[in-house]
Order: sequence, then C-alpha cells, then structure tokens
Amino acid sequence: MAKIINGKEVSASVREELKKETAELVEKYGIRPGLAVIIVGDDPASKVYVNNKEKGCAEVGYYSEVYRLPAETTQEELIALVQKLNSDDKIHGILCQLPLPKHLDENEVILAINPDKDVDAFHPVNVGRIMIGDYSFLPCTPAGVMTLIESTGTDISGKECVVIGRSNIVGKPQAMLLLHKNGTVTICHSRTKNLAEVTRRADILVVAIGKADFVTGDMVKEGAVVIDVGMNRRADGKLTGDVDFASVEPKASYITPVPGGVGPMTISMLLRNTMTAAKNTIK
Ligand code: GUN
Repeated sequence: MAKIINGKEVSASVREELKKETAELVEKYGIRPGLAVIIVGDDPASKVYVNNKEKGCAEVGYYSEVYRLPAETTQEELIALVQKLNSDDKIHGILCQLPLPKHLDENEVILAINPDKDVDAFHPVNVGRIMIGDYSFLPCTPAGVMTLIESTGTDISGKECVVIGRSNIVGKPQAMLLLHKNGTVTICHSRTKNLAEVTRRADILVVAIGKADFVTGDMVKEGAVVIDVGMNRRADGKLTGDVDFASVEPKASYITPVPGGVGPMTISMLLRNTMTAAKNTIK
C-alpha cells in the first residue's frame, strides 16, 4: 500500500510560504513580484491555464498583467509586446502561453524574452544554466516533481532514478535536476529496449510519456517512489495519468494521483520562479 502524495496540499504550503515572502519583499524593499502572461488566440485549455495563473498571482499577492491577444496577432506585434515587458520594471516574469497559433514562431518569441524574466525557463540561456547546475529558474513541471519527491523525505542521492520521456520541457530537465541531487539517472523513451527491465531498477520513477495507463505494476520495483506527470483524457471523459494506478499503487511506497498530484504544483512553481526573479532585482 503506497502513501498518496497530495499535490494540492504541497502546492498550498508553497503558496503560503510565497504569500509571506511577498509581504516581506514589499515591506523591506518596496518590491511586489509582477508576472505578465500573454495568450494569443482562444485555445480553451490555454485559457483555463492562463486564468489559473492570474488567480495564483492574486492568491500570493503578486502584481499581474494578462494580455489576451487575437489569433490574428502578427509576429512583429507579439515581439514588440515582449520587448515592452522586458523593459517594464513592474514586471519580473514574462510567460507566453504555448502553443501559439501556427503562423507564429514560438522559438523566436522565447528568444525575445529577457532570460532574467523567463520564468518558464524555456530560453536556451536558462536551459544551459540548468545543464551546468547554475540556475535561478527551474522549469515548472520538473520543479514540481522535485518538490513532491522532497515532500516524502526521500533522499535522492545515490538512488536509481528512471525518467520515462525525453521532452525538452519535462524529461530532459527532469533528468538534470535528479542528477544535480546525485541520483543515478536513466532516461527512457519510445525506442528504449527492454523498458520494463530498466523501470524495475528504479527507486524513483518519473513518468512523462503521454500514454494513458502505460506503466503497469509488473514494471515497478517494490517500494519505489512513482511520480506520474501524465494527463490523458479517457474515452469516458475521465482524466488519467501515464501510470496504471490500480496495479502500481500496491507496489509503490509513494505515488502521485492524477488529478491531484503533479498538476497542482506547476503554477506554484511558476509563482516561485517569479519570486526568484523579483528577488534577483535587489541590488
Ligand atoms: N503550455 C502548456 N504548459 C505550458 C507552460 O508550462 N508554459 C507555457 N508558456 N505554455 C504552456
């Protein structure tokens, strides 16, 4: 029987802490962390995420601006907005919600964001900083995973850590963060041979492959910590992760549910990065 890692609770405690830090920062330095979020077009899922980011800012006392731009926005208009926000002292973090409409170049937009305000940690400068272990911003999803692992009291040092998935925004940075904590890290992906053999070695298993109920009990070592980054919608409309909870839960020592595990953490990590960006401006 695994203990269930409650992402909502851990997320709430991070926000409590940020609320206190905001009050201190305002009182001592007159600085209120400010986040600007840009959304282009009307993708329904993106709209929900952006609304939640705005609410998160209000909850911890940040200043926020949301730019809801029409789908026809041009690359030049978008870049001009990013540049304006780069030189706005009230704004410490800038986030452009992805995906962008097809006619816009996401990479160019990411490159236009001042790396010191890049609270997604998507800019190549920040990606490089993560690689060498000298970073301010942690990419939000892997940072949420690390905070959840830490909440269990598990010491990562020397442990076998297996990450399934090699995306630029989850798998690869996740592997780096585990490595920085002295884990012995293996990255698996769609071409990995004998996947179950590898995953059965894991003391800590992070699954971010995007396939519903992909990891089953026979792929998991007794006592493993299992973190499910997946978010898939079943035919019946229910949300499910990449881990088959019913067969894995009896073998794991700790496991995250979906929903209610990694999901609630990501915006809190974005708020944490925005706090860091604001503190970094103190001379
Ligand atoms: N779209 C889905 N997740 C994210 C995220 O973490 N950051 C941005 N900018 N867009 C997203």
